[in-house]
Amino acid sequence: MSGNDDTFERARAAFVAGVQHHEAGRLPEAEACYARAQALMPGRPSVLINLATVRLALGNPAPVPADLAPVLAADPANPEALALLARALTALDRPAQALPLVEQPQRQRPQDAELHHRRGLLLGRLGRADEALAAFDAALALDAAHAGAWTQRGSVLREAGRLADAAHCFRQALRHGGDTALNGWFLASVTGHAVECAAAVGCDGADFAGDTAGATAGDTAAAASAPTAWGQAPARYVQALFDGYAEGFDRHLVEGLGYGVPEALAALLPPGRHFASALDLGCGTGLCTPPLQGRVGRLVGVDLSPRMLEQARARGLYAELHEAELVAWLQGAEPGFDLVLAADVFIYIGDLAPVFDGVRRVLAPGGQFVFSVEAADDEAAVQLGAQLRYRHGEAALRALADAHGFEVHTVRREVLRHEQQKPIDGLLMRLSSR
Ligand SMILES: C[S@@+](CC[C@H](N)C(=O)[O-])C[C@H]1O[C@@H](n2cnc3c(N)ncnc32)[C@H](O)[C@@H]1O
Repeated sequence: MSGNDDTFERARAAFVAGVQHHEAGRLPEAEACYARAQALMPGRPSVLINLATVRLALGNPAPVPADLAPVLAADPANPEALALLARALTALDRPAQALPLVEQPQRQRPQDAELHHRRGLLLGRLGRADEALAAFDAALALDAAHAGAWTQRGSVLREAGRLADAAHCFRQALRHGGDTALNGWFLASVTGHAVECAAAVGCDGADFAGDTAGATAGDTAAAASAPTAWGQAPARYVQALFDGYAEGFDRHLVEGLGYGVPEALAALLPPGRHFASALDLGCGTGLCTPPLQGRVGRLVGVDLSPRMLEQARARGLYAELHEAELVAWLQGAEPGFDLVLAADVFIYIGDLAPVFDGVRRVLAPGGQFVFSVEAADDEAAVQLGAQLRYRHGEAALRALADAHGFEVHTVRREVLRHEQQKPIDGLLMRLSSR
């Protein structure tokens, strides 16, 4: 057998093994096999399309445009490759490039509700709200049970401030089997119900799913009894938001919005104190590292978003980085930190009781806990706004601190950043474990 035949056989074997892993749902193994097949025999369309499919399913869209380039160079109208490329560009938050890839097949298949839905999603991202609404209407005219189109339509209306109309859409999405956590949380945000954190009881959102009459009584009952379900932003939402946001995050936040929370939190720390072991909850891209340099020994970061963590890793300053939901991570973490910080993270968590509980557990005696929150206009409340961010009242936070054995040292009111030229008021707090 010649060298070439041997390479062909090895590439084929890798491809076949990839298909077997793929079909069995073992996606990382499938990706490795397809990548091996591609390295051995570059440019084969079946390998590249499967590789791109698996990478998208693994939430790794970044290499997909390059994966598909040879396929499209050879066959520019390959429908499978174009559909995958559109999905990758959507996930990479490049809606202007993705839009023509959705519009082209849509002209050939105008009865395809899913294509209208995808087009609406991209138009919404491009800020073309009216066209997006028309696209969702077209999708729903073809398929009134398209839960995704209801959710996206509701999101565009929410952003336009049409909260009652948005609520109707989220109810419809729930009715038609849309993601309960996501749509329930969206509905809670537009119906304006504060999430009461005191009496944590579970609720799976079934009350919402049954409520299609548009009455708010059902919302009130469900929201009041649903602090667990809507006590924090769904992980999927946070992950998708920040994965899409990661690349331009630092520039956008620091230069565009005047964000200075990491520096302000570092300034709350007792002067001259060095921290041997620090934990950065919701570390994002690692913007807390510059103001902490020279003040901490070992630094550990936790975040839900793999793309944000990639940026944090590139700084080379974290001893460990964990891709995890922070409450879950805290439950299994080894104690011994003498500093825990959370900058601009509790805007995604309404029910902070499990967080305080976890931080108390991992913090060494005398350890410091510093964090920022957006300030609620009711001191005793936790509010979930239509902007999908939680706001916390100072009295509510003090009560929580007391209940979890923390001493409150500093509470500072500050403008956290600017949004649409308006200041966002916040609280910066330093607690210590008693
Ligand atoms: C606005 S960014 C702030 C990042 C960083 N702390 C800073 O100040 O630049 C919020 C970060 O919190 C993360 N996050 C939100 N909720 C989380 C949760 N429940 N568990 C882990 N990470 C979370 C997001 O993925 C995102 O990276």
